[in-house]
Amino acid sequence: MKIAVVALGCAAFTFTLAANAQALEDLLKKNGCTACHAIDKKVVGPAYMDVAEKYKNDKAAAPRLMDKVKKGGSGVWGQVPMPPNPQVSDAEVKTMVAGILDLSNKGAAKAPAKK
Ligand code: HEC
Repeated sequence: MKIAVVALGCAAFTFTLAANAQALEDLLKKNGCTACHAIDKKVVGPAYMDVAEKYKNDKAAAPRLMDKVKKGGSGVWGQVPMPPNPQVSDAEVKTMVAGILDLSNKGAAKAPAKK
């Protein structure tokens, strides 16, 4: 059951988000985030879809996550720390965090709307 929901979510995600997801992925790749993160599966860090899901009802998440991406940190997803990413511009961090958080609107969270 859970697998079916995830599969549906992924299908909807791939379909509706293709263009935006590509832009997001390009930014993530450019800034080295993809070394540790993927949109839909855990690598070293959490899957971005899981991040979106975790914070989907948290209105204060965006500024907090922007700060965390810049400064790094650990303890939310496990003991492995994310190193600081001070080289990434504020504008790009903002775009990436917004894009990551937006995954919950278009991906898994929309799955129940599917028949
Ligand atoms: C060297 C590996 C590594 C790199 C590179 C990396 N991350 Fe992470 N990231 C992690 C780990 C590990 C965590 C989990 C940290 C924790 O448990 O608090 C994480 C967590 C996160 C979170 C969730 C934070 C939270 O508090 O829930 C976001 C958002 C994130 N990363 C975005 C990015 C972005 C954007 C980049 C590129 C600029 C990036 N990461 C680069 C390893 C990495």
